[in-house]
Amino acid sequence: MRHLLSTRDLDRETAIEILDVAEDMADVAIREVKKLPTLRNKTVINLFFEDSTRTRTSFELAAKRLSADLINFSAKGSSVSKGESLKDTAQTLAAMGADAVVIRHSASGAPRVLADSGWIDAAILNAGDGTHEHPTQALLDAFTIRKRLHGSASRGRDLDGVAVTIVGDILHSRVARSNVWLLNTLGASVRLVAPATLLPPGVEHWPVELGFDLDDAVDAGPDAIMMLRIQAERMHAAYFPSAGEYSRQWGLDDERFNRLRADTMVMHPGPMNRGLEISSRAADSGQSTVLEQVANGVSIRMAVLYLLLSGAVEQGRAS
Ligand code: ASP
Ligand code: CP
Repeated sequence: MRHLLSTRDLDRETAIEILDVAEDMADVAIREVKKLPTLRNKTVINLFFEDSTRTRTSFELAAKRLSADLINFSAKGSSVSKGESLKDTAQTLAAMGADAVVIRHSASGAPRVLADSGWIDAAILNAGDGTHEHPTQALLDAFTIRKRLHGSASRGRDLDGVAVTIVGDILHSRVARSNVWLLNTLGASVRLVAPATLLPPGVEHWPVELGFDLDDAVDAGPDAIMMLRIQAERMHAAYFPSAGEYSRQWGLDDERFNRLRADTMVMHPGPMNRGLEISSRAADSGQSTVLEQVANGVSIRMAVLYLLLSGAVEQGRAS
């Protein structure tokens, strides 16, 4: 495995291997000494052209727990604001000897450009590119589902037969795309529920079932319901009449939350718009996995950094 650009590139065996290594990394996190020497002398650069709380800090923690050197580079406050291109930025980082670049960018495909360009000889990890993909988010979501379902007996398992419903702004969501591909590879069945205006063109060819009624989806009793953030920053038109109307029709409000199966996991990648796509009661309930998802993100990011930088996975199983 050279780069992690898309969950589409992961076969079942590789995906399960990443989840299993993340289990080992989670075991490290509960030890008194949380550091492993594995990536000593490796340099990881966090290259963030878009804002982030969870992904940037958890990659930082992951790299540090593996003893790598970590440099945080954000477009704000860098020479990008003086007009420096991605190419010149990448070549500058290459000159500093980066072994891995974790990139978040508003342009879909930017991590692939970096990986294919030859500007930098480093492992490229996609930390979210435009509306395209967010592979480590999907991996941490799959990890969270598997762990809630199987606890300490999770290792080696896929998600065969698990029903996951993803609700909301699918059109702009890289989280939804990465989850659809990965959950499908792992054997889960995925239902997307959204207003027609927030479904992407071509969605009928995705390996999913489509629904347009959240009440039906709630009553169907999924194993997990994943509420997506309304991505206001990517909306340049009106996709629904008003926030109130959206939350009435598409929000996991208290009433719908009460009707969910008592063991349905309530997921959200964060950041949440409380009161819009999810109520505080649902988000803060025992069924919510929101903070588990964040904690599991560190283990997943340790796993992918370890697998990419230590050469522990066969070349070519993921691109
Ligand atoms: N944080 C996730 C992302 O960057 C989800 C979101 O922002 O809605 O894609
Ligand atoms: N879920 C997620 O990617 O969060 P951030 O945007 O805060 O990194």
